[in-house]
Amino acid sequence: MADKRIIAVVGATGAQGGGLVRAILQDPSGGFAVRALTRNPKSDRAAELARLGAEVVEAHLDHPESLKRAFQGVHGAYCVTNFWEHFSPAKEMAQAANMAKAAAEGGVTHVIWSTLEDTRRWVPLDDDRMPTLMTEYKVPHFDAKGEANHLFADHGAPTTFLLTSFYWDNLISFGMGPKKGADGKLVLTLPMGDKKLPGIAAEDIGKCAYGIFKQGRSYIGRTVGIAGEHLTGTAMAAALARALGREVIYNAVTPAAYRSFGFPGAEDLGNMFQFKQEFEAAFCGARDLDESRSLNPELQMGVTSRALRLGTQ
Ligand SMILES: NC(=O)c1ccc[n+]([C@@H]2O[C@H](COP(=O)([O-])OP(=O)(O)OC[C@H]3O[C@@H](n4cnc5c(N)ncnc54)[C@H](OP(=O)(O)O)[C@@H]3O)[C@@H](O)[C@H]2O)c1
Repeated sequence: MADKRIIAVVGATGAQGGGLVRAILQDPSGGFAVRALTRNPKSDRAAELARLGAEVVEAHLDHPESLKRAFQGVHGAYCVTNFWEHFSPAKEMAQAANMAKAAAEGGVTHVIWSTLEDTRRWVPLDDDRMPTLMTEYKVPHFDAKGEANHLFADHGAPTTFLLTSFYWDNLISFGMGPKKGADGKLVLTLPMGDKKLPGIAAEDIGKCAYGIFKQGRSYIGRTVGIAGEHLTGTAMAAALARALGREVIYNAVTPAAYRSFGFPGAEDLGNMFQFKQEFEAAFCGARDLDESRSLNPELQMGVTSRALRLGTQ
């Protein structure tokens, strides 16, 4: 442990950070050790990480002092925020600022910031193809992350900007999977038209991040997009049908219809899918499958593998 370079992982008990923690611990000769950050070291998830060999440290993204302590003496820091816990872009940016400052002041050698596009670069607020949300955003959970990029640069934190993708896991745990229609047939409802959606198994995000830490210096200052596959709704439905052994119909609703579904975040996600649809070339182009695989040779063929697991549940 003493001769290993420590990577502090924010969100260690979650999907992205958890994948990174496991990737590091599964490679004992890789030269890295893990410091898992959590608000609650006594939780079952934190205890499981400790059992696997992680150092578990209490830290809170709203408390700069706790981040400063947690980033003390580490080589790397994986930084992620959880928009869906509070739905506040302002909070997300404040938390990003706290991490950027703590990393820079702590002399962290390599930071990975889990970010997304600031969609307002493509769809300015006065562009009424989609509604402006919360007064100053088009896709709040994207825009705040993208806007926060400059905080890492401003603080002088040596950062790789990691553009993540839609988790295929959403088809299982986020309520976006196929649902039974009135006729009993399974229907996958997404506002993607005939355009491709980049997706990834959530566990693979951490594995790609580990690949970036292993590459080190050459990735600092770079923006890197990752995905397991780029799939149309039709292809996703076909893969799900193969895995489940029953028909799955792709229902390509309009983004406006999706925005009106009424669940928390529906407008944000409706705008997000519209952005991904209308800027397919740029969005898919920013997520190179070959580079993702070179960072993580175990990259899963996302929707198919997740669906296979879904099929056995
Ligand atoms: N779902 C998707 O398809 C998708 C795709 C791309 C990007 N994203 C983004 O991914 C982010 C969420 O990441 P995830 O899916 O890995 O999260 P997750 O599985 O929901 O877990 C959230 C993690 O964040 C930690 N956390 C939250 N608030 C914290 C705070 N104030 N201080 C310290 N730790 C805190 C939690 O740690 P403790 O509870 O242990 O403290 C937990 O480990 C969101 O911002 C979302 O926009 C999602």
